[in-house]
Amino acid sequence: MCGIFAITSNKRNDIGEILVECAEKLTYRGYDTVGIATVAKNRIHLRKDKGKFDEVAEKLRLSEMPGSKGIAQLRWATFGAPSKLNAQPHLDCDEDLCAAHNGNILNFLPLREQYTEEGHIVRSMNDGEICVHAVERYYDQSGDLIDAIRKGCSDLKGDYAFAVMHRDDDKIYAVKMGSSLFAGIGDGETCVSSDLPSILPVTREIVNIHDGEMIILTPETLEIRSISKGTVIERNPYTSDADIRVAQKGGYPHFMLKEIHEQVSATRTLFSAIREPYISQFVDTLIEANRVFFIACGSSYHAAVVGSYYFNELANIAAIPVIGGQFTSLYGESIGEKDVAVCVSQSGETKDVIDAVHHSLKKNTKILGVVNVLGSTLTHLSDLYLPLGSGFEISVPATKTYTSQVTLFDFLAIQAGRKKGVLNQNQAESKLNALKTQLSPLIEETISTTTLKARSLAPYLSRFSHFYVLGHGLTHGVALEGALKIKEVCYIVADGMYSSEFKHGPLSIVDKGYPIIFAIAPDDAEHIVNHLAEVECRGARIIATGEDHPLLRRYVTEEDFLTVPKSNQNLSPILQAIPLQLLAYHLATYKDIDPDYPRNISKTLTVR
Ligand code: BG6
Repeated sequence: MCGIFAITSNKRNDIGEILVECAEKLTYRGYDTVGIATVAKNRIHLRKDKGKFDEVAEKLRLSEMPGSKGIAQLRWATFGAPSKLNAQPHLDCDEDLCAAHNGNILNFLPLREQYTEEGHIVRSMNDGEICVHAVERYYDQSGDLIDAIRKGCSDLKGDYAFAVMHRDDDKIYAVKMGSSLFAGIGDGETCVSSDLPSILPVTREIVNIHDGEMIILTPETLEIRSISKGTVIERNPYTSDADIRVAQKGGYPHFMLKEIHEQVSATRTLFSAIREPYISQFVDTLIEANRVFFIACGSSYHAAVVGSYYFNELANIAAIPVIGGQFTSLYGESIGEKDVAVCVSQSGETKDVIDAVHHSLKKNTKILGVVNVLGSTLTHLSDLYLPLGSGFEISVPATKTYTSQVTLFDFLAIQAGRKKGVLNQNQAESKLNALKTQLSPLIEETISTTTLKARSLAPYLSRFSHFYVLGHGLTHGVALEGALKIKEVCYIVADGMYSSEFKHGPLSIVDKGYPIIFAIAPDDAEHIVNHLAEVECRGARIIATGEDHPLLRRYVTEEDFLTVPKSNQNLSPILQAIPLQLLAYHLATYKDIDPDYPRNISKTLTVR
């Protein structure tokens, strides 16, 4: 996934400054290469290179670029290695057009051959470059840029969004065909971006753009057109109340640590973000479904795994967690109109999930969304969605959105359990009350009681290139998530697994001093004592998250026991992800890795 930001202004002729300020907020979308193109006195100025945003911005003095309009692009490499040549934006053959894209042009290679045969100079191996040549191909024929863009899109296959500009006017054009795009109307300037936080320094007046639409920006106006029909589409702006401070670190060394701490408030704001009658409609749909699927990727998938245990235990509903990319091959044929697909995606843009949605829609399956970013593709495609209300999550490794997703699943399972009579009124009320009033302070207490121990384990764990994180029942998803955090930010192969499964093979890896991390829910201690014993007697060093328990004390030393405050079987799994997040964070910083932007990955992958 990449990030694009473009702006045209009638009050700036040093456009580089605002381009850098806004584009920097897209860093989490890609940090393999960075580039900015501006137009000054009918000439295109283009500076781009391999590297992270702040390094390239400083080296090429991007903020000093002249002009009154420009396009910035931050790239997570798919087609074409991270290099200056493959960096975006790209110029057309005669250097009067410039464009940058986010997404995937699937027919890039055949188009590259075709355009080259037609005489185009396609300089790079980056699929984004083909966008500007697709437009140029028709512009050279008609001289009408709107028409050329519409026809250019008909050549392109895949999911993408791109911005394009000509050196001879004050316009910016942009297209949304499957990747995210938002527009902003400021005072004497308008802009377009892959994500909302980067628009806020310019304006809070936002216009949502939908797939199949293009926009024409001048410093004073924004026009939306249908790409297929060319007709003008009227849509009013709305005022975003998003908090720009979210996109700053607020005194924390990294966004990841800030967002771990923000879990205290995020689990509270969740309950003001979700509203009736949507909650009841969401729950009723799940109760009435023939089959329920939880479809997600990455940390969202792990939240869905925890959610599936909640729905079994609290509502006697079998919710099947499925990885987005796997869904169609596994259930694509059998899914039907009596089934429900709950699609969980903080960004609302993950391609593997969106593909599963498109397939399910063809089978008339009801789509329910659990989303953090409003206005995202998943919110448009869902029959009904519940917002997380977590605020922008900047750090690539998810933390607060994962915890809010798990909290929401717990909440929905209790509601469903009460409606189905699995829980009586008192049981449901006391669980809901604990969730709404106790969880947030318990998270705060967990952070303060486990930070020191998490940090002190870093030197020992840094000696290993692989180890296991084991969970059982409600903490199975917690173990998977803890393992992913460590993989993502520590570059260690931490394998998350069900604790009963470990003896069927992986146990062979255990040797003296080998680390095994257990996440243990309070009622499960007796169940898994043999899982602890079988590794301990072979020399493993056991690190555990869980409530204090005499039985566990026999296998876990004080320094290795990341005890969470006493709560209950329902809340404890939510708390136990936090010491694992802190462990990953402090291990990453101990290994001198930037946890916010780990190598090779990106916050939202809009490629399949
Ligand atoms: C990955 C991110 O690319 O996408 C993960 O690195 C994230 O952190 C996963 O959990 C799913 O993202 P989303 O937006 O669908 O929840």
